[in-house]
Amino acid sequence: MIEVQELSIVYGHGKEAVPAIDGVSFHVAEGEMVAIVGPSGCGKTSLLLAIDGLIRPTSGRILIDGEEVRGVRRDVALILQDAGLLPWKTVRQNAELALRIQKRRESVDGILSALGLSGFENRFPAELSEGMRRRVGIARALALRPRVLLMDEPMANLDSLTRERIQSLILDLWWEMGFTGIIVTHDIEEAVFLGQRIVVLSPRPARIRTVLDNPGMGRHEYRGSPEFMEKVKVLRQILGGNG
Ligand SMILES: Nc1ncnc2c1ncn2[C@@H]1O[C@H](COP(=O)(O)OP(=O)(O)O)[C@@H](O)[C@H]1O
Ligand SMILES: [Mg+2]
Repeated sequence: MIEVQELSIVYGHGKEAVPAIDGVSFHVAEGEMVAIVGPSGCGKTSLLLAIDGLIRPTSGRILIDGEEVRGVRRDVALILQDAGLLPWKTVRQNAELALRIQKRRESVDGILSALGLSGFENRFPAELSEGMRRRVGIARALALRPRVLLMDEPMANLDSLTRERIQSLILDLWWEMGFTGIIVTHDIEEAVFLGQRIVVLSPRPARIRTVLDNPGMGRHEYRGSPEFMEKVKVLRQILGGNG
């Protein structure tokens, strides 16, 4: 469904050129959830922005359903690291934002409730915990009922309990809604919990170091099982190598 073909991204020109991504190719099947891990600054956000159509590849291309991505698509949603909430809008208004931009009138009640935000619809971001703010950001993206959900370290800088809760919610919503997901993370356990496959990137400029299959992914009980621990160990060794 998503095909990234020989993607390269270079910022700037001439002496100032910063190569961020260098010849990355991978695919994500319909309904699949893929985790992308790599050292900080290696080009992960750039990769997601390109898949979302917000930046143009310097070379190579990205196809969704065989169609080249040339701009933001209605069926693709992106969750950024800081949730990007508008402080002067309520939880409901923030969650509705992406829908309204697309001139859609659907209700966000169902998704707010699925994310445990019922009763907080009229609160403002400053009145919420950081974990709740992230969930509003997730609600905003999922309200679109996207076919493709791109997540850029959505759990970064959360305490581990909150992080695990939101990871579990994402797993439930993936089963329920059937979207195709890409989650960027530098948290090894998060990648093993949420990635059916794990794409490991090199330090900048990002190249594909390896792709790990993770067939155990999909159940809440996977976390903490011997297979899970083994996969975490393998991934830690790969990342510890030089990067
Ligand atoms: N708009 C930009 N202009 C110049 N350099 C950029 C720009 N955006 C990102 N970079 C550089 O590209 C590299 C990859 O950035 P990014 O994709 O944000 O990495 P990651 O998300 O893996 O931390 C970094 O060295 C960063 O400084
Ligand atoms: Mg980033």
